[in-house]
Amino acid sequence: MPFKRFSRRQFGKIAGWSALGTSVLPAGSGLAQSDADTAARNRKPLPGFPSDFLWGTATSAYQIEGSVHEDGRGPSIWDRFAEKPGAIADNSNGDIATDHYRLYKQDIQLMKTLGAKAYRFSIAWPRIFPDGAGAPNPEGLDFYNHLVDELLANGIQPFATLYHWDLPQTLQDRFGGWTSRDTSKAFADYAAHVTARLSDRVKHFFTINECSRLVHLGHEYGADAPGLKLSPSDVKQVRHNVALGHGLAVQAIRANGQAGIKVGPAENAVSCIPAVETPANIRAAELATRELNAGYLTVMLEGKYTDAYLAQAGKAGPKYTAEDLRIISSPIDFVGLNVYMPDHYVVAADNERGFTLAPFPKSFPHMKATWLRPGPETMYWVPRHVAKLWNVKSIYITENGTSGSDQPAADGTIYDVDRIMYLRNYLTQLQRATSEGVPVHGYFLWSLMDNFEWSDGYQERFGLYHVDFETQRRTPKLSASFYRETIARNAVA
Ligand code: NOJ
Repeated sequence: MPFKRFSRRQFGKIAGWSALGTSVLPAGSGLAQSDADTAARNRKPLPGFPSDFLWGTATSAYQIEGSVHEDGRGPSIWDRFAEKPGAIADNSNGDIATDHYRLYKQDIQLMKTLGAKAYRFSIAWPRIFPDGAGAPNPEGLDFYNHLVDELLANGIQPFATLYHWDLPQTLQDRFGGWTSRDTSKAFADYAAHVTARLSDRVKHFFTINECSRLVHLGHEYGADAPGLKLSPSDVKQVRHNVALGHGLAVQAIRANGQAGIKVGPAENAVSCIPAVETPANIRAAELATRELNAGYLTVMLEGKYTDAYLAQAGKAGPKYTAEDLRIISSPIDFVGLNVYMPDHYVVAADNERGFTLAPFPKSFPHMKATWLRPGPETMYWVPRHVAKLWNVKSIYITENGTSGSDQPAADGTIYDVDRIMYLRNYLTQLQRATSEGVPVHGYFLWSLMDNFEWSDGYQERFGLYHVDFETQRRTPKLSASFYRETIARNAVA
């Protein structure tokens, strides 16, 4: 069919330009172009985020701290994994990373410059218990005592993640790590110890970061530490042990923390987006969300595995008791969600599951990292599904961001407009969610600064601040101004 050509005027009408009055000055209005520019600058911003919305940045211990031999820290599975030839794309490791262990005060000033009022960091288990269990190492805890004090002194609320993948190597050697529920129990003991000492100042704790990635990439595909490629039934048992670790930690945190502290997971829920926003597709996307997160958020929030999950697993299903399920579903105060991309576009279907997952066309775009397919609407649908399916009353976006090539231009500035484009679109969708009453209470941008991006080493830069890994110099990228402006306006800049 021949392409119907529109005149510019017709197209403007279709696109609504004349209604918005932005492209054409009314004839005879006498409004000069510069006045129009000023008017545009002063126009009322879109409705903002809730007035108590919390803006923050996020990092994790192994990705930024370095100083892996300081103050009695024991080895973690990532130290060991990074020694394997070929495990890390650039053969690097987290030995130095961004030297945050020594530069943390300076890094807190970077947060302050952004106007951020919250910071999500993780605590390195091998610093607190160098052997995973047994005798604690007070010097390891001291670092986090200082970090928390410095954050509070600068008006920044600390949000602590207890497990961001750096399992003490001893637990891997002794029990096979998460293949054994002994690790789930050791995790609860470590959580209890930390909460008892930090909860006078830290009021929000995340249990485990991205259960599903640590299960799949760490234990099924071997791409993350500990680099295992287990059988389907062993993978399901690991998944169960990780969920159990989450539940035991929730209980330990409540039992050992001060009154009023809040706890929840930080999960990268499998994201299911209605391909076209019809009531039937929206319902199908909800069904898909519940099924495809069966071993993670669904069991944590419902206290049971879905029938379809158990039926599909058959004999390879996890071994567990009714008591395990009660522990896993211990009440939580909020759900943390790491939101990066759409995992599935969903269409309603007249089949047993009630949905079809649309295949991604080859032409679907990606950001610098080929796995990161941008789909800003993910930021609307994931929290909306979670709030609706499980009646969750409080949600934090615990991560969102993108890597970029981040090359300085001739004038030295890093014009990372791809990151700004990505953030602007995702935040617009988040604003859509909060304005409709989806209870998202805060947002932590990943990441404050470039860091060790796991098996990609230092080749993927996710930071608002560029880090020169030779000199440890931090330089704000243009996206840092975008984020600062957004925080200042409490609306998308
Ligand atoms: C999620 C992980 O929690 C974080 O550690 C990682 O760097 C980002 N995704 C980007 O891949």
